[in-house]
Amino acid sequence: MAVSNSTSSPHPIPILYPLQDRVAIVTGASRGIGRGIALHLASLGAKVLINYTSNSAEAEHVAAQINTTSLSQLPRAVTFQADISDLAQVKSLFNAAESSFNSPVDILVNSAGVVDSKYPTLANTTTEDFDTMFSINTRGAFFCCREAANRIKRGVGGRIICLTTSTVASLRPRFAAYTASKAAVESMVKILAKELKGTGITANCVAPGPVATDMFFTGDRADAAEKAAAECPLSRLGQVEDVAPTVGFLASDAGEWVNGQIIRVNGGYV
Ligand SMILES: NC(=O)c1ccc[n+]([C@@H]2O[C@H](COP(=O)([O-])OP(=O)(O)OC[C@H]3O[C@@H](n4cnc5c(N)ncnc54)[C@H](OP(=O)(O)O)[C@@H]3O)[C@@H](O)[C@H]2O)c1
Repeated sequence: MAVSNSTSSPHPIPILYPLQDRVAIVTGASRGIGRGIALHLASLGAKVLINYTSNSAEAEHVAAQINTTSLSQLPRAVTFQADISDLAQVKSLFNAAESSFNSPVDILVNSAGVVDSKYPTLANTTTEDFDTMFSINTRGAFFCCREAANRIKRGVGGRIICLTTSTVASLRPRFAAYTASKAAVESMVKILAKELKGTGITANCVAPGPVATDMFFTGDRADAAEKAAAECPLSRLGQVEDVAPTVGFLASDAGEWVNGQIIRVNGGYV
């Protein structure tokens, strides 16, 4: 149960469940960073739609983790398969969240994304791989943001948070198309935040550095973890738990004043 702040105390009691009864969609929540964010938002009290595209078993596992710790009889997490690069499926995703929780959506976290696991130079990037990354990372983010901008509850607590990447700042060779697909999202979200004036909805990007997920370890990257740790002032690879609390803060009422920003969460490597 939430504990409300005392108006008389100079040291307000912290609110235990700052997202209590808020409805959140987390795309790409079957694995990796999205999974960590879904679990974290649920721990802050949110009802969460766990989106995935192919791994239904993993998505169900995340939902079960949340629902087994729920005190309520009703599920606080549901799963929904949708490819975010397909507009009809994104619309169905929002419909599913609204009908499952009998409420408009409060929070969108768009974490679904793909990288080219061949890590090619631009000269060696195929048109097909370029199109795949822009289709999911950019067009998918656009569809999710557009739907969110039109459907998230007006008033207070509306939040749009897109996962981008610190490579937009570090500009690593072999990440040209991937980085460009995320840089486009960062520009889009900064403008969206201004366009949402008067709605109470904030829009931000969280841009992680290297994080130990399937995406990071995909492809031929034997020494990638060591290299990432060596470049980081904190001498280690990022973990999902290093990223999720920033998203939780932005999603909360306390995060309202952070709007139209790109938060690079990377241990200081750039
Ligand atoms: N890991 C890193 O080092 C790192 C660094 C910076 C930024 N990021 C960004 O952080 C986000 C999460 O990355 P991650 O490392 O957690 O990736 P991950 O471990 O590969 O997980 C990707 C997630 O996205 C889902 N997904 C992929 N394509 C989708 C689509 N078309 N529609 C809906 N869902 C889709 C996957 O679902 P299935 O399980 O069903 O396949 C999975 O849940 C991405 O946007 C990524 O670009 C990651």
